[in-house]
Amino acid sequence: MNDPNGLVFHDGLYHLYFQCNPQGVSHANISWGHATSTDLTRWTEHDPAILWDDEAQIFSGSVVVDHGNTSGFGTDQEPALVALYTAAAPGHQAQALAYSTDGGYVWTKYQGNPVLDRGTSDFRDPKVFRYDDGGDGFWVMIAVEAQDRQVLFHRSDDLKTWTFLSSYGPAGPVGGVWECPDMFPLAVDGDEDDVRWVLLISLNPGGIAGGSGTHYVVGDFDGTVFHPSAPFATPGPESLTDGSQSRAELEAFGWIDFGPDCYAGVTFDGLGRHDRTLIAWMDNWEYAGLIPAEESEEHRSAMTLPRRLSLTRDQGGAERLRQTPVIEVDPGESIELGRLAGSAVLGEGMTGAARIRLAAAFGDAQSVELRIESSSGDGVVIRQDRASGRIELDRPGAGMPPGFPGTPSMLLAQPDEIGWDVWIDALNERVSSIELFAQDGEKVLTALIPTASPRTYSLDVVGGALSGARADVVDIEG
Ligand code: FRU
Repeated sequence: MNDPNGLVFHDGLYHLYFQCNPQGVSHANISWGHATSTDLTRWTEHDPAILWDDEAQIFSGSVVVDHGNTSGFGTDQEPALVALYTAAAPGHQAQALAYSTDGGYVWTKYQGNPVLDRGTSDFRDPKVFRYDDGGDGFWVMIAVEAQDRQVLFHRSDDLKTWTFLSSYGPAGPVGGVWECPDMFPLAVDGDEDDVRWVLLISLNPGGIAGGSGTHYVVGDFDGTVFHPSAPFATPGPESLTDGSQSRAELEAFGWIDFGPDCYAGVTFDGLGRHDRTLIAWMDNWEYAGLIPAEESEEHRSAMTLPRRLSLTRDQGGAERLRQTPVIEVDPGESIELGRLAGSAVLGEGMTGAARIRLAAAFGDAQSVELRIESSSGDGVVIRQDRASGRIELDRPGAGMPPGFPGTPSMLLAQPDEIGWDVWIDALNERVSSIELFAQDGEKVLTALIPTASPRTYSLDVVGGALSGARADVVDIEG
C-alpha cells in the first residue's frame, strides 16, 4: 500500500482508505483499500472499496459526507459519502467521483466521470472540503498539477461541476513533483480569534531527508485565493529539477517531518477544528518497492501513527505546526535516572511495540544517545548533540535497498532541553519503524529501521552527565 486516502470520521467511525494493489506487493492495479476504527488505534480491514478497471487506476483522493445532499446521491436524512479521486490512465489524469450510500463500504463510480478534466497527464490527488463563507457555503477542491509544482483551487455546489478559482506555486520546495495537497484552518494556540490556514504539500523527490517529504505553509484562505503569511520567492525554472535544492535552502521551509519515511500525509474530514488529525504513509518512493516484504504476510508498507495537529506561534512570530500522537496507551514504567552519566538499559528483549519518553536537562553532558538493538546486533542510534543543537538518527543500510542508509537530522530551537517521545513498532520480521516527537511535537522524525524484534533499548550519555533525567517506558502488547 501507499498513500492514505479519503480519511473521514462519520457516525462514530474513522474510515481509512488507502492506495493498494489487491493482488500483490508492487505498485499496480491501484485501488482503494479500506479499514475502520473507533479509536484510531485498532483497525479492522474490509474489502477494497473502489477497484481499478480497464480504463483507469484509482489514484489518491478524499471523501466528504454530503450533508445537505448537494450531489443528489443520498437523501437529507441519509447523506451519501462522496469520494473524489484521480482516474489515472497512461498519459492522462483527471478527477472522478464515486459515492456510497451504505456508510462507506460499497461504492459506485459516477456515470458522468470524469468530473474535472484539464486534458493533462499529471493532474491529481483531489482534497475536497466544505468552505463556510458565512452563507450557504460551497465545496472547494485542491489538487496538483504535479510537474508544474502548482496547487489548483476549484469550487462546486454539487461536487460534480467544478469551476477554477486560483492557483498556488511554484514556491518553496520545488525540487520534485508536488503531490497529495491538503488544507485546513487551525486556531493559533487555541485562540478562535486567530485562525490561520495550513496548506500541506508533499513533494517527491526534493524532501528534507532526501526523496519523498511533506512541507507546510501557513497563511489565509479567503474562499478564492490562499495567501501565505510569509511568501516564498518564485523559483527560477532551473530549480524545478529533481532534488535541485540544497539542505540549507530546504531548512528555511516548514516540514511535517524531518525523517525519510513520512509522505502523502492528509487529515480527516468530519472532525472539529481542535481534533484535526493526520495520517501519512510511512515510506519513501526512493526505495518503497524494494523494502523487504514477507510474501506470506501479503503486504508491504504501513501508515504512521495518527497525529493531532495544532498551531503555535514562536518567539519570532512565525506559526509552527505541532503534532501529538493520538494513540492512548498505558502510562508504563517510570524510571527516575536523576543525574545520569555513562549508560542505562531502559528495556531488554522487548517484542511488542514500545513507547519511550525521555526528559532531562543537558547538565554538563555533550550528547545523549538512545540505542535500539536487536539480539542479532542490528541497530540504530538516535542522538541529540548539544553543540550542533540537532537530533540525528544513524540509519545503517544492512539488508536494505540502496538509498536507504543515511543520517536524517533536525535542528532544535531549544537545544539544551531533552524532551523525546519515541514510538517503535514492527513492520515485519526484518523491518521496524520509529516515530520521534521532540520539542513538544514541533520537530518530528519518522524512519523505517532495519531492526528485528526482540529489541533492547539503552541510553548512553557522552562527555559528562545529564541532570534530572527521567524515562517512561511502555511495552505495548499486540
Ligand atoms: C503519492 C502518489 C500520488 C498518486 C498515488 C499513486 O505517493 O504518487 O500522487 O495519486 O501516489 O499511487
